[in-house]
Order: sequence, then structure tokens, then C-alpha cells
Amino acid sequence: MSTSTAPAAVRIEHLSMRYGRSPVLALSDVDMVVHEGEFVCFLGRSGCGKSTLLSLVAGLEEPTAGTIDHGGRRVGMMFQDSGLFPWLTVQGNIELALRLSGVPRSTWSARVAELLDVVRLPGVQKKRPHELSGGMRQRVALARTLAQDCQVLLMDEPFAALDAITRDAMHDEIERIAAERALTVLFVTHNVREAVRLGDRVILMQPGPGRVASELDVELARPRRMDDAEIAVRAAYLHDLLDEQAGSKEEKAA
Ligand SMILES: Nc1ncnc2c1ncn2[C@@H]1O[C@H](COP(=O)(O)OP(=O)(O)O)[C@@H](O)[C@H]1O
Ligand SMILES: [Mg+2]
Repeated sequence: MSTSTAPAAVRIEHLSMRYGRSPVLALSDVDMVVHEGEFVCFLGRSGCGKSTLLSLVAGLEEPTAGTIDHGGRRVGMMFQDSGLFPWLTVQGNIELALRLSGVPRSTWSARVAELLDVVRLPGVQKKRPHELSGGMRQRVALARTLAQDCQVLLMDEPFAALDAITRDAMHDEIERIAAERALTVLFVTHNVREAVRLGDRVILMQPGPGRVASELDVELARPRRMDDAEIAVRAAYLHDLLDEQAGSKEEKAA
């Protein structure tokens, strides 16, 4: 389904961010609309403001200028590090999110089991994070984020630390879960193929100051696979754009 006709889920206008007295803006005059149910990947080299953008959408930071409107939708966030509390079991970690969301205690056990089913990791309630593999920990982290019943899911390089096989499995899971729950997803990565594998749209960013450089609609059928030839073609195109960015930077420095 085309999402460009869906209502706006996140509307960003003239967004700028300066950390402290830094001479360079981490983000400069960013404008964009992400539509309901859309899966948008933010791609760009380190320092182009990807994490800053997600932090601002999550409300973890205050912008220097501009506005973000998510129309009161609930926003959840997930990072490269699962961020699970090591001293709590899987059950305890997910219950904490349920508690913070005001879910009645009597339903916690059933909800935890249901969420672990959603991320296809049933029966691990009593495990502690260190007993799980990296991929399993990210599944639990996803379950915990979904426990907040978010409509907008922010993901900051969530699979960057996983091996390729585990990462491919997580791609299938997030694609399925996003579709089942009609989530709007803002997904940050510096992996070009991953961006094309997952995104309905890829927004390419550029550093110094952080800004949107260009964007690409990925009109490929799902499910997709990382090694699809169609993905390779688009990834090559985006790689060229990234190389051009790097080239123009070197010219300036010369
Ligand atoms: N908490 C912070 N304090 C000061 N500068 C920061 C902070 N976080 C990020 N920056 C700077 O803002 C710019 C964008 O960073 P970031 O959003 O982390 O980029 P990315 O996630 O694309 O790598 C970089 O120049 C970075 O050094
Ligand atoms: Mg980052």
C-alpha cells in the first residue's frame, strides 16, 4: 500500500539543533513528513545528525529551533545496545515498561508472554540478559518497547552489533511486526543495503551541518532479502551519492 496518501504521523518543520556552543549545527533546518504506517530509513555517515534527529522526535532533547508534531502519538525508542537492566529477568524488564505505561498488574504475566510471542522468543521470562545472545536481547528490547504500545517506533542502529545471519532474521521480524501493528518506523542506519532492505523511503543525510541531502522511494515488493539484485542496484546508487558527499568534502579541504 502506498503510504504517501496516509495522514502525517510525524511532521518536522525547520528543525535545527546546536549542542552547547558548538560552531557546527548538528541539524540545520530539517523539514519532513513521515506518514502513518511508513517505514523510513535514515542513512548517512557518522556525525550527520541521525541520532540527534531521533532524540528530538523522542523528546529526549529540546531543539534549538523548529517544531516536531506527532499529533499525540505514542513514541517508543530502541538503540544498538538493548539497554536491558542486567539485574532484572526478562519478565522484570518487560514488566517495568508495562508498569510505566499504567497497565494493570493483574495482566502483566499474560502481556509479557504475548509480547515474547510477538518477537518469537517464548518461554525466556526467567532468563537474565547475560544468558541471552545479542539477537535475543534485541528481541527482548523490542518486546519491551512494544509493551509501551507505541504507534511510532524509533530505532537507532538497532541491529548494527549483530552478525549478518541474526540481523537478516531481525529484518524479517521488524518488517512483519511493523506491518501487523501498522507502526510508523523511523529507522537509523549507516548500512546502505539495510536501509534499502527495510525502507519504504530512504532519507540520505549529510554532515557539517547535519541536513537532508536527498531521498529515495524504494518501490520494491515485500518481503525483501538483503541479497536481492534490486536492492543491490539501489544500494549502489546510494553509495555513489555518499561517495560524492565525501568527495566534495575533500575538495573543500584541498
Ligand atoms: N550530546 C552531545 N553534545 C555535543 N555534541 C553532540 C552531542 N551529540 C551529538 N553531538 C554532535 O552532533 C553531531 C551529530 O551527531 P549524531 O546525531 O550523533 O550523528 P549520527 O548519529 O549521524 O552519527 C556530531 O557532530 C556530534 O559530534
Ligand atoms: Mg548515531
